[in-house]
Amino acid sequence: MYNEIDLDKIDLSSNPPSEEPARQYYFMAKCREMVRNFKQRHDRFPTACVQTFGCQMNARDSEKMVGILESVGYRMTESEEADFVLYNTCTVRENANNKVYGRLGTLHNYKKKNPHMMIVLCGCMMQEESVVQKLRESYRFVDLIFGTHNIYKFAELIVRAQEADSMLVEIWQETDKIVEDLPVERKYFFKSGVNIMFGCNNFCSYCIVPYVRGRERSREPGEIIREIEKLAADGVVEVMLLGQNVNSYGKNLKEPMSFAELLQKIEQVEGIERIRFMTSHPKDLSDELIEVMRRSSKICKHMHLPLQSGSDRILKIMNRHYDKAHYLRLVEKLRAAVPDISITTDIIVGFPGETEEDFLETLDVVQKVRYDSAFTFLYSKRTGTPAAAMEEQVLESVAKERFDRLLKEVQKIAAKQAETYTGQTLPVLVEQVNTQDGSLVSGRLSNNSIVHFPGNADMVGTFVDVTLEECKGFYYMGRKVDRETTSAH
Ligand code: 5AD
Ligand code: SF4
Repeated sequence: MYNEIDLDKIDLSSNPPSEEPARQYYFMAKCREMVRNFKQRHDRFPTACVQTFGCQMNARDSEKMVGILESVGYRMTESEEADFVLYNTCTVRENANNKVYGRLGTLHNYKKKNPHMMIVLCGCMMQEESVVQKLRESYRFVDLIFGTHNIYKFAELIVRAQEADSMLVEIWQETDKIVEDLPVERKYFFKSGVNIMFGCNNFCSYCIVPYVRGRERSREPGEIIREIEKLAADGVVEVMLLGQNVNSYGKNLKEPMSFAELLQKIEQVEGIERIRFMTSHPKDLSDELIEVMRRSSKICKHMHLPLQSGSDRILKIMNRHYDKAHYLRLVEKLRAAVPDISITTDIIVGFPGETEEDFLETLDVVQKVRYDSAFTFLYSKRTGTPAAAMEEQVLESVAKERFDRLLKEVQKIAAKQAETYTGQTLPVLVEQVNTQDGSLVSGRLSNNSIVHFPGNADMVGTFVDVTLEECKGFYYMGRKVDRETTSAH
């Protein structure tokens, strides 16, 4: 296990081992040597800044890369005027890409002042050939580019990029490898993301994820449990199980196991009080899972269930494999099993060929389900996906107008939904001292709603019973109740 490795004891005069993770420990030891040389030359440790774009998967990948940087001696900083800057990129929508190009210009200026600076790009955007080509042509100052499949080789890539005298690009098209036991630095000491699977096999026709994250691979349940037990021993009370489609967990394991079965195993880990997961796909959400949620005292009362569209016609073209009626039935079952469950969603507006009638079907689902919150997206054309080649692209002005109408409805309903909890006293897992008002702390309810209330830094990472006094739309103001909390719900 990584904790038991002493990097200083690794013999760097021999060749690197070929098996993993031993090979990466070797390169981490090499990185540590480079960091020490830097310290001698500059009389300070090198600084590193990691910026994450996109989803929770990327956030977790970044924690792994920060873990490696810290364990070899880099000092982490928020400032991009650092000796090592890494952008972990997202490409799910076009505007995420544009943001990266914009910010690279600023990094170039920093590098002119600090020529030893290392600029590194990784993540989903790098899995697109056109992106790498553009970077090779117009962003020569970038030192290292890698993708989503070889993140575990981070230490090795840093060493090779330091030794190279021009841009090092290493993008893999696929991997079936899952390397365990590398260091990871958690952003919060009391909660953590846990990857349970990687990649996606669904090929929704608008989505680039299956092309950049590869085929679905589940981690062995034993490895997942081992990681969660270690986290619990380390003080973690809440885990967020991560996968593009957690409901299909385990199908490709040597000994297949369902997601509901995995959840039951995780529930038994002592010290873990709350279990969250995302993302669920409506086509694979089983009755077995709903039953496990009904019985559980640890699984949070929250289901993120992407709808994408309410129109059967559009859902078909999106390749989603469910229809409106099936989706509404799922919501009914979830509410019957877990009465105060919060249901949230993702919706895309302006998918090719979407008519006003199609859009009204989406609005109808929004009104029927009454989401506690919804992420709404304007359809973004992603080169290489089937939808990008569809002829009837919706006019931007039409899509924008629908988007505004949808957002208004979503916000109106979410505010009303939130009101229903006002006055209740519920356990809050305190996450941080409020960034704007130091006399307040902020945390989350089981249903993922945010609550601010008077408190202090000692409360961070603990459960506190809070009366929700006022609902401010998407968050609550509350007051601590003086009694022991007995459960995380
Ligand atoms: N355009 C707009 N939104 C998209 N999403 C995925 N691909 C696209 C796209 N091409 C949204 C979906 C998904 C969320 C993570 O991002 O709603 O659930
Ligand atoms: Fe994309 Fe669909 Fe896979 Fe989600 S399930 S990552 S939307 S292809």
